[in-house]
Amino acid sequence: MRLSLRLILFLVVGITLVTFVVSRNEVRAEKRGLRADLERRAEILAESLQEIVEPALERGSREQLRRIVERFGNRERLAGVVIYDPNGRVLAESSSMSSQPLPPAVPVERLQSESQGVSEFLRLGDEPMHAYYLALHDEAAISGVLAIFHDASYIEAQSERIWRETVWHVIAQVLLIVLVTILIIRWSIVLPISRTAQWMKDLRGGRIRPRPPLPKEDFLAPFSQEVVNFARSLSEARAAAAEEARLRETGESLWTPERLRVSVQSKLLGSLFVVSNREPYMHVRRGKNVEAFVPASGLVTALEPILRACDGTWIAHGSGDADREAVDAHDRLRVPPDKPEYTLRRVWLTPEEEQGYYYGFSNEGLWPLCHIAHTRPIFRSLDWQSYQDANRKFAEAALEEMKGAEHALLLIQDYHFALLPRMVKEARPDVRVAIFWHIPWPNPEAFGICPWQKELLDGLLGADLVGFHTQAHCNNFLETVDAALESRIEWERFAVKRRDRTTFVRPFPISVDFRESSAEPGVKAPSPYELRTSLLKNLGLTSSFLGVGVDRVDYTKGIIERLRGIERFLERWPAYRGKFTFVQIGAPSRTTIPRYHDLLGEVEAESARINSRFFQGNWKPIALLTRHHSHEEILPYYRAADFCMVTSLHDGMNLVAKEFVAAREDEGGALILSQFTGATRELRDALVINPYDTDQVADAIRTALEMDADERQIRMRRMRHVVKEHNVYRWAGNLIAELSEIRIDETEPVLAWRS
Ligand code: G6P
Repeated sequence: MRLSLRLILFLVVGITLVTFVVSRNEVRAEKRGLRADLERRAEILAESLQEIVEPALERGSREQLRRIVERFGNRERLAGVVIYDPNGRVLAESSSMSSQPLPPAVPVERLQSESQGVSEFLRLGDEPMHAYYLALHDEAAISGVLAIFHDASYIEAQSERIWRETVWHVIAQVLLIVLVTILIIRWSIVLPISRTAQWMKDLRGGRIRPRPPLPKEDFLAPFSQEVVNFARSLSEARAAAAEEARLRETGESLWTPERLRVSVQSKLLGSLFVVSNREPYMHVRRGKNVEAFVPASGLVTALEPILRACDGTWIAHGSGDADREAVDAHDRLRVPPDKPEYTLRRVWLTPEEEQGYYYGFSNEGLWPLCHIAHTRPIFRSLDWQSYQDANRKFAEAALEEMKGAEHALLLIQDYHFALLPRMVKEARPDVRVAIFWHIPWPNPEAFGICPWQKELLDGLLGADLVGFHTQAHCNNFLETVDAALESRIEWERFAVKRRDRTTFVRPFPISVDFRESSAEPGVKAPSPYELRTSLLKNLGLTSSFLGVGVDRVDYTKGIIERLRGIERFLERWPAYRGKFTFVQIGAPSRTTIPRYHDLLGEVEAESARINSRFFQGNWKPIALLTRHHSHEEILPYYRAADFCMVTSLHDGMNLVAKEFVAAREDEGGALILSQFTGATRELRDALVINPYDTDQVADAIRTALEMDADERQIRMRRMRHVVKEHNVYRWAGNLIAELSEIRIDETEPVLAWRS
């Protein structure tokens, strides 16, 4: 049955039932009221007649009785009056009663037991009647019975009238419901869906038109979402195909997801496995619902497109509070949730393990050890124990996932897993193992602070390939190995030889997924000006110039230095007061660690201080947004900003800089970039600053805002070219190619250099 018909049927049946129940109650109440009214009238009349009839009865004058009943018997609605003797014989009756058989009088005994008269509804012939019987007395004895009969047909007539009206109401309501339902279904569902279907058909046929408004109804939200996804995937696929064709035509060699897929398939005879601490999707409970979200992590940003391209298995810590609800019996699930393309295997850690391995050893020890940002590393032996246990747990999970997999390739990610390469390699020497260190590697003296540096280096050298973002980090690593371990460093081919095993050390500058156009087909992209106006309006601010910063709130990111740079800028160029606002998106991170917790407070206090110094009306210089923002939420800020500012005190690469460049399809916007990031080696057209130099930061802000439009465009175009060429697919392609070329069965592997 059609939806509208079913809907109408349910509504009609429902409304009819409700109306009938309501009307039945109304009829009953009305009947009760009318009957009570009639009974009261009969009672009053009977009592007033009683006073006249009793003396006449006492005198035994039938003629007088007849006259009395005749006189009263003709009143309105009164059917008649009858007087019986105590034995029920009629003594007198009004003439109006003679046409019908009289009912027998109520037995005297019944009247004696009642304090008042007896009231009854009965039928005389076909007529509904009400009868009221009252005992007549002579002294104490009953001398007769007075009966008053009223016509009760008007009560039934009244009920019938109510029922008739009910039927008309139901008919009118049904007609109205049918009409309204048809109109609503047509306007809100049928029309938008048929327009959307036509639009999709056109799109499939290559005719791109603006997308019509999608149905807004809640129950159609998944459909609308899918339409948007479908359109995006289709246009992405088209753009990728066009780009491939263009590249073939021009002979350029750009890395695309497709090229990576093909390359991995041809290089790898087996499957790809990745281990990282942070998972790409976290399931968290929000009220009654479970939602999947992508955590703020450069590592996740970089690896996700690769796993999608190669359908591999990603092994990571299940840290969301609803993560267990989303996995199967083997702790696996397919992701992304709305378009499954690879497998996520979750590993569970106890709160104690997480505390020791993640917060303790990794983030209070190794993180500050590797970043020169003046936060002292803390090394506790209990944390070290947890670190070893957690590495073993992940190694077991990885070995389980790789069971039976031939020619498997394992990409281990980051400083959380320095021991994992050796653990895996000892159990599975046939697996090609690479570890990529996403953070800087300091000089040997700095790394030597770690009481367990030898164990960490030994674990890392279990890998066939160790990757860093820059050559400088590779050099630092080799020097550290040289200083700490018995080994042979082969500087000519950047390798370490130890106990007959060779580990190659290479730079692989990580990057982002660069899309030529991310606009939905048929939807005109808003201009930076339009975006800026609407973003600021949502923040309750007005401003002509906009700067943006996007970071996890981490002491390595130089957020305080950045805020001081903004303060200095407003001090030196007061004309920008009231006109320039900096939006700092700061995702709270690792907040159970005191240093991070304190930093969040410091950043808030510093922006409040600067704001209170300069604010006027509904303008303030800094809008601090301290919550996790999705990539989709951040994009409009990148696109609307006059500049993006990255002021890391030390950073392996910094993908925010590359994300900003990738987002600027309009070739607008300037990038202010710290000299202490890996990214600065590639993005040479950024305004490079030393974040410790407050005046230099202020100068860079002014330069970014006042830069000639042509120069801005030239710089951005060149940076976009670099990011496009050196995208994340090239990073993965090179890493995988390098690893797959290592001949692990020989003691003297040969490795080709790669661009
Ligand atoms: C850095 C690390 C990543 C980490 C990310 C987010 O980029 O190199 O391994 O995932 O920070 O930090 P979190 O501790 O929240 O994973």
